[in-house]
Amino acid sequence: MSMDRVAWSSLYNITRASNGSKPFSKELLKRVFGFARPHRSRLVAFVLLSIVMAVLAVATPVLAGQVVDAIIAKADAGTVIWLAILIAVVAVAEAGLGLVTRWLSSSIGEGVILDLRTKVFDHVQKMPIAFFTRTRTGALVSRLNNDVIGAQAAFAGTLSGVVSNVVALALTLVVMLNKSWLVTVLAMILLPIFLLPARRMGSRLAELRREAAEHNATMGTQMTERFSAPGATLVKLFGRPDEESREFALRAGRVRDIGVRTAMLQFTFVTALTLVSALALALVYGLGGWLALGGQLAAGDVVVLALLLTRLYAPLTALSNARVEIMSALVSFERVFEILDLKPLISQKPDAVESPRGPLSVEFDDVRFSYPSADKVSLASLEDVSTLDTRGGEEVLHGISFRVEPGQTVALVGSSGAGKSTIAQLLARLYDVDSGAVRFGGVTPGKGVDVRDLTFDSMRETLGMVTQDGHLFHESVASNLRLARPDATEEEMWEAIRQARLEAMIRSLPDGLDTVVGERGYRLSGGERQRLTIARLLIAQPRVVILDEATAALDSTNEAAVQAALGAALEGRTAVVIAHRLSTVRAADAILVVEDGRIVERGTHTELLAAEGRYAELYRTQFNEATAVAQEAVPEL
Ligand SMILES: Nc1ncnc2c1ncn2[C@@H]1O[C@H](COP(=O)(O)OP(=O)(O)O)[C@@H](O)[C@H]1O
Ligand SMILES: [Mg+2]
Repeated sequence: MSMDRVAWSSLYNITRASNGSKPFSKELLKRVFGFARPHRSRLVAFVLLSIVMAVLAVATPVLAGQVVDAIIAKADAGTVIWLAILIAVVAVAEAGLGLVTRWLSSSIGEGVILDLRTKVFDHVQKMPIAFFTRTRTGALVSRLNNDVIGAQAAFAGTLSGVVSNVVALALTLVVMLNKSWLVTVLAMILLPIFLLPARRMGSRLAELRREAAEHNATMGTQMTERFSAPGATLVKLFGRPDEESREFALRAGRVRDIGVRTAMLQFTFVTALTLVSALALALVYGLGGWLALGGQLAAGDVVVLALLLTRLYAPLTALSNARVEIMSALVSFERVFEILDLKPLISQKPDAVESPRGPLSVEFDDVRFSYPSADKVSLASLEDVSTLDTRGGEEVLHGISFRVEPGQTVALVGSSGAGKSTIAQLLARLYDVDSGAVRFGGVTPGKGVDVRDLTFDSMRETLGMVTQDGHLFHESVASNLRLARPDATEEEMWEAIRQARLEAMIRSLPDGLDTVVGERGYRLSGGERQRLTIARLLIAQPRVVILDEATAALDSTNEAAVQAALGAALEGRTAVVIAHRLSTVRAADAILVVEDGRIVERGTHTELLAAEGRYAELYRTQFNEATAVAQEAVPEL
C-alpha cells in the first residue's frame, strides 16, 4: 500500500467513528451474535484467512530484506532469483486470498442484512393499524434501510477490520522489534503526536457529515412531498413557491459550504499523516543507516524496517477508532431491535379456527373499547415527537350491543365522532375490544365465534370493508383487484367490474386491466376509484360487508353510480353500513343511532321517526343537508 492510500484509509477509519459512547448490555451483544450464528462457518473461515493474509503481508518486506542482504553478501544469482519467485508467489497468493476474504466478508454482511430486513419487514407487517396511524412512513423506511445497513457494517467492516488489523499490527511489530527495537520505538513515538489532533478532527468531520445528512434529508422530504401530484396541487393553490425556493436554496448552500469544509479537513488530515509517516521513514533510514554503518544492523534489516513502517500506521489509526466504530454499529442494531421488540397488539391465536360456513350473523356483545395510547403501539423516534403521548386510553365505546341477522343490513347513524368508524374497525378486527366480544355466526345470541379466535386468513375471507378513501396501490387494475383474491380469473374480474358499474371505464383505459392506476389511484376520479375498491370487495365475495361512509366524498353523479355498485355489494350479505345518505339508511333492516359511544336508539326508519327522538332530529338536519350538498354536483379537481 502506498503512503497516500494508507493516509486515505486511515481518514476513512477515523471519521467513521461518530456516535458518542454508551455502555451496551451483554444481552444486546448476545442478540447481535445470534444474527451471526447462521454464518458461523464462513465467519471462522474469514478470521483464519485474515490471519494468513496478515502473515503474507509481513512476508514480502522480510523477503525484500533478504534480497538486499544476499546482494551485499554477493551470494549467487540462484538465491536472488528464488527469493524473487517467492515474492511473486506471495503476491499471487495475497491477491487470490484477498478475493476470497472479500467474498466471505461481503456475503456475511449481506446475509445479515437479508436476515434483518426480512425480519423487520415481517414484523412491521404484523403491527396493528394503530402503529401506522402514528408513525411517519419516512422515519420507518429509513429505519428499515439505514439502520439495517449500519448494523451490517458491524460484520462486514468492523469485524474484518479489527481481526486483520490486530493480527497485522502484532506481526509487524514483532518483526520490527526483532530487527531493531530502538528504531521501532523512535519511529512509533511520532504517531501519537499526530493521532491526538486527528481524533478531534475526526469527530468534527463526523459532525459536519451528520449536519449535511440532516439537510439532505429535509430537502429530500421537501421534494418528495411537494413533487407528488397532490402536494404539487396544494402548493399551486396555497403555497408560497418563492419562500419554498428560498428555504431550499439556503439548505443547499449550507450543504455546499459543508462540502468544501469537509474536503479541506480531509485533505489536511491526509497531508499531515503522509508527512508524519514520511518523517518517520526519514528517521528509519537515518538511524537505521547509521546503525548499519556501525555494523549493528544488516542493510537488509533497514529495508525491512522501512517497508514495514508503512504497514504500521493504517492498522494503528484504524484500531484507535475500533471501539467507537463498534459502538455505532451496535447503536444501529439497537435501533433495529427496538422495532423488532414492539409487540403486535393483535395476533393470531395458536389454536385459531375458521369462521363457520354459510351465511353469518354479526354480534356485538357489551363491547367497551379505548384506543391504545401511543406508548403502547409506537416509538418516539418514529413519530415527530421526543416523548410519547401516554394520554389517550379514554373509553370511546361504552357497552355496545347489537345483532345483525344473516343477510340483513344494519345502518349506523350519529354525529361525527360518535364512534361509528370505531365499531366498524372492531368488527374488522383492526383493533381488539377491551371487554365484551365481537362474534360471527351463531343462531342463538352469544354462540358465535369470537373474531379473536379466527385465523387471519379466515377473517380476510369472511369480511370486506369499503371506506371513504378507498386506497389503491400504484399497480395495474388487475393486480389491485387480485389483492382480494390472487387466483381470480379474468372473467371473474370483469364480472366484478360489471357489477361495480365500471365496465365502460376500464374498457376505455389504454391497457385495459393492465393499466397502472397512479399512487392513491390519482389518475382515477374519486367515484371511479371508489367503484374499483367495490369491485375488489366483490371479487373477494365476503359474507360480511362493512361500508364506512363509502359515498361521503363523492359528488352526486358519481354517487349514483357508486350506490348502484354498492347495491350489488350488499346483496345477500350481512352488512353494517355507515351512511350519510338517507336512501341507504331507509333501506336498512334496522337503524342504530350512536352518540358518544352508546347506542341511544334503535328501530326501523318509520319507528324511529315516529319516536321523535335523536333520529328524527338527525333526519331533519344531517340527512337533508347531506342530500342538498350531494345534489349540487361539485366539479371534480
Ligand atoms: N386512531 C384513534 N386514536 C385515538 N382516538 C381516536 C382514533 N380514531 C378515533 N378516535 C376517537 O374516537 C372517537 C370516535 O371516533 P369515530 O369512531 O371515528 O367516530 P365517527 O366515525 O362516528 O365519526 C372520537 O372521539 C375520536 O376522536
Ligand atoms: Mg367515521
